[in-house]
Amino acid sequence: MKDWWKEYAADIPKLITETPGPRSKELHNRTTRYFKGLSSQVKLFPVCFEKGYGITLTDVDGNKYLDFSSGIYVTSLGHCHPKISEAVSIWAKKLMNAHDFTTPVKEKLVEKVAQVLPGKLNAMQFYSDGTSAVEAGIRAARAITNRHEFISCYRDFHGKSLAAVSCAQMLRGDVHSYGPTRASGFYMVPRPDPYRPLWTKTDGTIDTDRYISFYEEFIMESTVGNVSAFVLEPAQGWAGSIFPPDDFFPKLKKLCEKYHLLLLDDEVLAGMGRTGEWLCMNHWNIIPDIVTLGKSFGNGFPVTAMVVDEENGEALEKISASSSYGGNPMACAAALASIEVIEEEDILDNVRTVGKYFIKRMEIMKNDHPIIGDIKGKGFLLGIELVKDKQTKEPFSEAGKLVYQKAFRKGLAWIPAGHILRMSPPLIMDEKYAGMGLDMIEESIAEVETAFGYH
Ligand SMILES: Cc1ncc(COP(=O)(O)O)c(C=O)c1O
Repeated sequence: MKDWWKEYAADIPKLITETPGPRSKELHNRTTRYFKGLSSQVKLFPVCFEKGYGITLTDVDGNKYLDFSSGIYVTSLGHCHPKISEAVSIWAKKLMNAHDFTTPVKEKLVEKVAQVLPGKLNAMQFYSDGTSAVEAGIRAARAITNRHEFISCYRDFHGKSLAAVSCAQMLRGDVHSYGPTRASGFYMVPRPDPYRPLWTKTDGTIDTDRYISFYEEFIMESTVGNVSAFVLEPAQGWAGSIFPPDDFFPKLKKLCEKYHLLLLDDEVLAGMGRTGEWLCMNHWNIIPDIVTLGKSFGNGFPVTAMVVDEENGEALEKISASSSYGGNPMACAAALASIEVIEEEDILDNVRTVGKYFIKRMEIMKNDHPIIGDIKGKGFLLGIELVKDKQTKEPFSEAGKLVYQKAFRKGLAWIPAGHILRMSPPLIMDEKYAGMGLDMIEESIAEVETAFGYH
């Protein structure tokens, strides 16, 4: 079963037209007459996909790509994994929705989630998108603490509803910048980015303690003393696969304990194996108070979860789990099958092994290329930061766009749009295809360097 995807990958990249091809362009143009607000990734490369199996994507012109995006961190076990597709189709033919009544497949899923998550994270609710899970996490934090203020961090992303966006970076030009922005009681503080530290020690290394003491000062001076939780991504996905230094979360957890604050760990993007652990937070041996799961949780089927510690489970009775689609039988089947695949196919092990290969290759690339300022990542949550100059670290967004388009033209379906080249390949990928993707990226970087006169 483990190698089910290899037969589909044997001939990639297979490019039979210029890309985006004529049929892609035609369908894209017809669609955008009515469908508005596409992401920059799509605008920069308006291809129209028709099929996806394993680590491959095929467009309507018959061009076949290597997938380095997993949708958008979603189809982590490969497109149309046979076990997951089968599990969904069984319930699609038997029982599609039963509100929040118990179903046999939901019973199995709750037990499985409780088994794989660390500590006593075992009181849960299911939703159908990451934003709703984060909203539920915020409601849960209020219910648990009877407090209403929240602290999040610069460049975090947690979704697009009012509370979720209030914990997130707001972009100029985004709808939230046209009116009152953050909801009241939501605050942002800087978090440590090892490549661009705000506070350093005398030896130049990042000063995590300074961040923590700033938070402490912030809690005392800028809140009304009603802080419920810190809401954080364990590693910042949207911002460019930015991981904090290893001592950050242990120190933050201590601060939370000192002030009786909860730690809401938004693992929608980084969780369920993407970094080689069930939760990214496992890397630092931290058990958060509240966790949100999404994206990889159902491998493409819209299913997400909000989970709290057993001790706080009763508080969830105050926030109803009822939703139209949350935890429907198809969704539970997809999530259950996805967790089983991670176990049966030793996915965590593969992510750790191939993840090391990624980092090793990317280190070499960094040394060989004047515009690669930094490489970052754990497991299959990876980033390459492009800069105009390694000394000044000025972000090189123009290069980012060009590298993205050039690599796509070589047959790499991926997700960067800014100066950090984000990568989130399917977790089933082996070194051969990891190397193939990096080759396409490296060639594209070299071409862009030449175009900008670096060599
Ligand atoms: C960390 C994080 N939280 C929440 C969300 C929102 O998830 P969704 O788009 O499923 O609503 C995202 C989406 O990218 C995310 O990356």
